[in-house]
Amino acid sequence: MLHYIETGTGPAVVLLHAFPMDSALWAAQRRPVGQAGYRVITPDLPGFGGSALPAGAPSLDVVADEVAGLLDHLELERAIVGGLSMGGYVTMAMLRRHPDRLAGIVLADTKASADAPQAAAARLAMAAEVEAAGSSVGIADGMIPNLLGATTRRTRPAVVEAVRRWIGAQPASAVAWAQRAMAERPDSLPDLRGFGGPVLVLYGEEDAISPASDAQAMAAAARAGGSPTSVMEIPGAGHLSAVEDPAAVSRALLGWLRTAAR
Ligand code: MLT
Repeated sequence: MLHYIETGTGPAVVLLHAFPMDSALWAAQRRPVGQAGYRVITPDLPGFGGSALPAGAPSLDVVADEVAGLLDHLELERAIVGGLSMGGYVTMAMLRRHPDRLAGIVLADTKASADAPQAAAARLAMAAEVEAAGSSVGIADGMIPNLLGATTRRTRPAVVEAVRRWIGAQPASAVAWAQRAMAERPDSLPDLRGFGGPVLVLYGEEDAISPASDAQAMAAAARAGGSPTSVMEIPGAGHLSAVEDPAAVSRALLGWLRTAAR
């Protein structure tokens, strides 16, 4: 069972974190969204934070099944499920495997496309690197310029330090497993076209990993399938928008939830 933290009561909203971090990514959203009348559930994905790595080959399908298992445990037939970056990939895996559990989805700083061969190879190389090192500390410095926007790197040193610590604290085994799982993920645009439920697409203006063009492609696919779809840009934030401008992301979520989660 995935380890999770929950706050508040009301319609359930499950928020899945980015790579290579844990549910602390959503720490600043728990209280404002919970206090606004939602049951906010933030799990640690397999191997990260307090959750164990599952046996078996790395796959986002396994992660999606674990999130569905958490919904079972919480006796939730359906929930709003959303995720940032890797959390978004897992949300899209849920579209394939557990669409009936999704009352709506949030896709934050993520993309529906599969990896190009070079990107997949870079993931496998990082998996081997962290396993050889037995630690994730060494990958943080190389990742931060991509994960955090220029504004955050210039003006929010506490965020930069927190992200460096979170990355270094994740087990090498989880980082390697997740990279191998993400390297295999399929193109999810057809799954978005098949959904039909409410969709929020959200992205940081300075996101270098999943820029506006990825957000627009997901929104177009969702709309083509009949999903009521909102797109929101978070100004002055990069890829980790939820920690770079937590208040703006909470506002964006709440604005959308009021129309989507009824
Ligand atoms: C993330 O933030 O989860 C990662 O950037 C996802 C990825 O490596 O594609």
